[in-house]
Amino acid sequence: MKQVVALLLFSISLSLSAQKFEGLALTPPMGWNSWNKFACDVNEAKIREVADAMVSTGMKDAGYEYVVIDDCWHGERDAQGFITANAERFPSGIKALSEYIHAKGLKFGIYSCAGSKTCGGHPGSQGHEFQDALTYASWGVDYLKYDWCYTGKRNAEEAYTTMSQALRAAGRPVVFSLCEWGGNKPWEWAKPVGHLWRTTGDIYNCFDCIKDYGGWKSWGAMQILDQQDGLRKFAGPGHWNDPDMLEVGNGMPVNEERAHFTMWCMLAAPLIAGNDLRSMTIESLGVLSNRQAIAINQDSLGIQCFRYEIKDSVETWLKPLQNGRWALCFLNRSTSPKSISIDWKAFSVKDPLNGLEINTTGQEVWQLLDIWKPTPKKLMNTKKPLVASIPAHDVLCLKVFK
Ligand code: GLA
Repeated sequence: MKQVVALLLFSISLSLSAQKFEGLALTPPMGWNSWNKFACDVNEAKIREVADAMVSTGMKDAGYEYVVIDDCWHGERDAQGFITANAERFPSGIKALSEYIHAKGLKFGIYSCAGSKTCGGHPGSQGHEFQDALTYASWGVDYLKYDWCYTGKRNAEEAYTTMSQALRAAGRPVVFSLCEWGGNKPWEWAKPVGHLWRTTGDIYNCFDCIKDYGGWKSWGAMQILDQQDGLRKFAGPGHWNDPDMLEVGNGMPVNEERAHFTMWCMLAAPLIAGNDLRSMTIESLGVLSNRQAIAINQDSLGIQCFRYEIKDSVETWLKPLQNGRWALCFLNRSTSPKSISIDWKAFSVKDPLNGLEINTTGQEVWQLLDIWKPTPKKLMNTKKPLVASIPAHDVLCLKVFK
């Protein structure tokens, strides 16, 4: 009995004191992170150049905001236990870099880990949470990605709550990104703790493959998409499922980039680019900065998409948008083109989560905007059935509205 009461008090105190900064990430965060392209090869010149490119390429205007240094920026802890930056890679210090990024109208993010070490073997934050949060606040950090290596038997909810409280205590509003890979089901407990939580292991730079490293695996875009099943009810403004960062611009053919990006937009996923913004192709930039796709992702309802149908390797996905609008996407997962058709006179679907309904069977004509076609003079509409062919590993994605 005593144990039960103690446990109850413990969980009440945890839930009462777990208070992330509210009012942040009301739409999925957008930005860039160094890991997918550069892994540990980070330094201040590179990060500054990426921030420059975020502005000069128009990515900032498209909505990208956070510039996040992932693992390996660290030096050692000093005699008082405060974390320092690697002085060779970051000779001007992290605060100067953060000021540079802020001066461009962007926000600055950094990476740490709930264990004794980061995944790359640098000092982790375990036992130094409040001290590290103070350091980050003094550096002007706006976003913290917090990993899950070298955590031993640590309880994930406790570990992430401690860092959330530390950030809160330090006083500077920070978007808190939990990178626990989904093993402890953060979607069930992290809403008061952070603003986004990874749902899977790491993404691998392929459309449809699994990379097996022996003890662990990383996942292609389609494998990650499948692992989002059942999670949509946990996402919403300020608390997002994170299917990991984007691989757009890292070498996939443009049709696969388009399909990967479209599905991340449909999932209401954080849009964190992971390519070299300084040298990307015009095609990859076009994918990353497609305004219509981004508007679907950033829709203020914050509802994650659902799969309505699978037919002959084509998946039909729907996402309710504000003002009765919908996004309707067909994803061709096969390696050959597929045709699809929709008889609008017989098309009515209810979102099983909230009862919102798209129903085109009535008299009223709905407009159809193909988000990947340059704005046509005349929009398609629901007067005639939709018949289309979708290339291999590609999407047809429509905004449907009256
Ligand atoms: C883990 C994370 C990655 C990246 C690396 C850094 O694998 O899931 O996203 O942060 O660590 O070491």
